[in-house]
Amino acid sequence: MEISKPAFTQYLLVCENKREEGACCGARGGERLRELLKKAVKERGLDSKIRLSRSGCLDVCAEGPNVLLMPDNLWFKRVEEKNIEEIISKTVGGLS
Ligand code: FES
Repeated sequence: MEISKPAFTQYLLVCENKREEGACCGARGGERLRELLKKAVKERGLDSKIRLSRSGCLDVCAEGPNVLLMPDNLWFKRVEEKNIEEIISKTVGGLS
């Protein structure tokens, strides 16, 4: 095992989990949200600081689609495309 500090300052985990039955972020546009967030991060030159990553179920399925900002531990629930800017404002990009 090797232990080190990550190169990124923050991680945006976007749930894209899909399931046959019941609520899931994958059926509510999780993939599209991740693409839009990735584009927004890159356009602001933040892609060296913020890592976008698809995630499996984050266990709040009924409130999806869900995005989690780590290590801040901030949940964004019932995210819509119109919320992209607000999410970015909570990252290191919003602090500069
Ligand atoms: S399917 Fe996204 S939180 Fe469970």
